[in-house]
Amino acid sequence: ELSPIDKAKFVAAKRAADFVEDGMRVGLGTGSTAAWLVRCLGEMVRDEGLKFKGIPTSTRTAELAREVGIDVISLDEAKWLDLTIDGADEFDGDLNLIKGGGGALLQEKIVATASDQMVVISDVGKEVETLGHFPLPVEVIPFGWQTTHALIEETLISMDVLGRSATLRMNGDRPFITDEGNHILDLHLQRIGNCRQLALVMNQMPGVVENGLFIDICDTVVIGYGDGKVEVRD
Ligand code: A5P
Repeated sequence: ELSPIDKAKFVAAKRAADFVEDGMRVGLGTGSTAAWLVRCLGEMVRDEGLKFKGIPTSTRTAELAREVGIDVISLDEAKWLDLTIDGADEFDGDLNLIKGGGGALLQEKIVATASDQMVVISDVGKEVETLGHFPLPVEVIPFGWQTTHALIEETLISMDVLGRSATLRMNGDRPFITDEGNHILDLHLQRIGNCRQLALVMNQMPGVVENGLFIDICDTVVIGYGDGKVEVRD
């Protein structure tokens, strides 16, 4: 028996799996909600003979996808994608997102941007009026990360945000390392007044590889509820 939150994630994933059609190239997201999707798609391959190629957004997702029998190819093999289905950490009324709670934002953003369509799957708890309560992940290269960290904190002072601190994401007592060998700074902002501007400013800084704001990328959000209800928003 699933907990209400897992049930919400599962029903959203199951509905979104219906977007996948024979012959498609589909970006496979990362995180616990995306893992439900990958398992659903694996079942459809096995039980319904669904034929599609999956492009994973992390080593974790690649492993799971292979395990459940999905035909996995790289982004370079696919070049362009019909669709990406991924989770998110927050979404707002314009379907802008914060992603990267699982640390895979860089590959996720590259894959989603290469797709004709991005569908986000979420439990109902992730909708917000203004993005920023969830700490914004920013991927930085390890070289000089403390300098980049200081530069980011200094820059936040002049921006329309409430909080201004950034913390290095850890994995036990060591810095977390992304699939691309980088670190992540989590920006505690509370409220991002102008997410478009913040996304641009972050990506202009030397040392910053990518930020977790997904703006004008997501087309549809599939929201799952604990009672099994699903709402599709686009
Ligand atoms: C992974 O890097 C993130 O962008 C995930 O999409 C996000 O953290 C959602 O994860 P859950 O589905 O586990 O909440």
